[in-house]
Amino acid sequence: MNERLIFEKSRKGRRGYFFPACDIPENEQTQSLPDTYSRCTVPELPEVSEIDTVRHYNQLSRKSFGVDLGFYPLGSCTMKYNPKVNEAAASLEKFTELHPLQDSSTTQGALKLMHELTGYLCEITGMTWGTLQPFAGAQGEYTGMKLFRAYFTQKGEMQRNNLIVPSSSHGTNPASAHLAGFTVIEIPADERGMVNPEYLEPYLNDELAGIMLTNPNTLGLFETDILAAAKKIHDAGGLLYYDGANMNAIMGKVRPGDMGFDVVHLNLHKTFSTPHGSGGPGAGPVLVSERLTPFLPVPDIGFDGKKYNFVWDKPMTMGKVSGFNGNFGILIRAYTYIRVMGSKGLKKASEMAVLNANYLKTRLMSKYELKYPGICKHEFVLSASRIKEETGITAMDIAKGLLDLGIHPPTMYFPLIVPEALMIEPTETETRETLDDFADIMIQLAEQAYHEPELLHAAPITTPVRRVDEVQAARKPVVRWRKESN
Ligand SMILES: Cc1ncc(COP(=O)(O)O)c(C=O)c1O
Repeated sequence: MNERLIFEKSRKGRRGYFFPACDIPENEQTQSLPDTYSRCTVPELPEVSEIDTVRHYNQLSRKSFGVDLGFYPLGSCTMKYNPKVNEAAASLEKFTELHPLQDSSTTQGALKLMHELTGYLCEITGMTWGTLQPFAGAQGEYTGMKLFRAYFTQKGEMQRNNLIVPSSSHGTNPASAHLAGFTVIEIPADERGMVNPEYLEPYLNDELAGIMLTNPNTLGLFETDILAAAKKIHDAGGLLYYDGANMNAIMGKVRPGDMGFDVVHLNLHKTFSTPHGSGGPGAGPVLVSERLTPFLPVPDIGFDGKKYNFVWDKPMTMGKVSGFNGNFGILIRAYTYIRVMGSKGLKKASEMAVLNANYLKTRLMSKYELKYPGICKHEFVLSASRIKEETGITAMDIAKGLLDLGIHPPTMYFPLIVPEALMIEPTETETRETLDDFADIMIQLAEQAYHEPELLHAAPITTPVRRVDEVQAARKPVVRWRKESN
């Protein structure tokens, strides 16, 4: 039975809780609130009993899927297990009871955590200093683009407006560059699925602002020609931006700073383990090389040898990018994760993430196509195009079939350069048995496409909502109840 909306359960006058009678005399009740701020109509809240409310939310919680419930190989999202010790640290009262407007003399612990975390992230990425403010990877990218702009403005090179974004970059990269006012120049991936330094040649002039690169790229491949590409961009006076959201593949192995990058963002909610999905919560710290540090957002978190403090006096700063100091709860989780793992643990995590991805890829290659072969890093992209040609079953049908078997599907139809793409990222935290179960199921679905395609066309049959109109759902999502829609 489908769970109805709580508004549909509402019955006039039904209550789950009664407030005590108001002890403020009636004639004083509205005195403190000016009319402009008072409601004219009663809010449309659902009127439900306590048991209906309890059942409603428990039912909903049982329908949601998360990494604590099952395998979640959603490529590009790094849905790794989130150790519960992170949650314990983030729930400490001394953190949860803080207010961002408290005087810094009373928040030394929190400032120390942020200062040290910035230092750890610099060590991991090979950068000089950074900001923890951005709330997401994409906001980190936008911040990075604004840093590029501040740097060129200060140098008097306002004409540098062209930003190269390879086709194998994450989709947010061109969007962030465009929003920051740059002209996006897309270059194709070569036959290896990588950036070819030769393709940069036509754009190496004094209008070049730089390049924005996802590495490992969205095909899960490490850009092996990165040093040559970095040299070309720098020689032309441009800067290099590193989308480090895929850092889970390379921690302790290589560092963007050593590859020549000027700005990096990390997705703490991916690599540094925070429960995420459906758009939040997140943190996208930005780390920069020496020459860009003067432009970092304010306030910086400083340490004078005795005390931690907010540093506002930075004449060349690009300004502020978030309210207060970012998503502090996520910062605590990342800090805890890094401290618990240590440098050896982080390196091992990356090694295991790459091993798991290559194991799974090898098991699935017989049934699905791999358009760009070779050793992958943390993820790989299969194609269901041969299955589609021969049976009419699409990547979408396979994904829906997985839902019926209790598995979250991989990312589909992305990156765009692979037709019928299924982008799989198992992460380091899955066991060999889980990987084998998933591989068996994927193989079974590929075989089903040939023998019982009607079952896959009909899938999913076990979920509360069957197939939705994907285009309508994406273009006109109805996520708010309105009386008139009933
Ligand atoms: C490679 C890459 N870059 C950027 C982003 C954007 O990050 P966010 O969703 O936090 O804005 C993602 C998201 O998963 C990503 O995988």
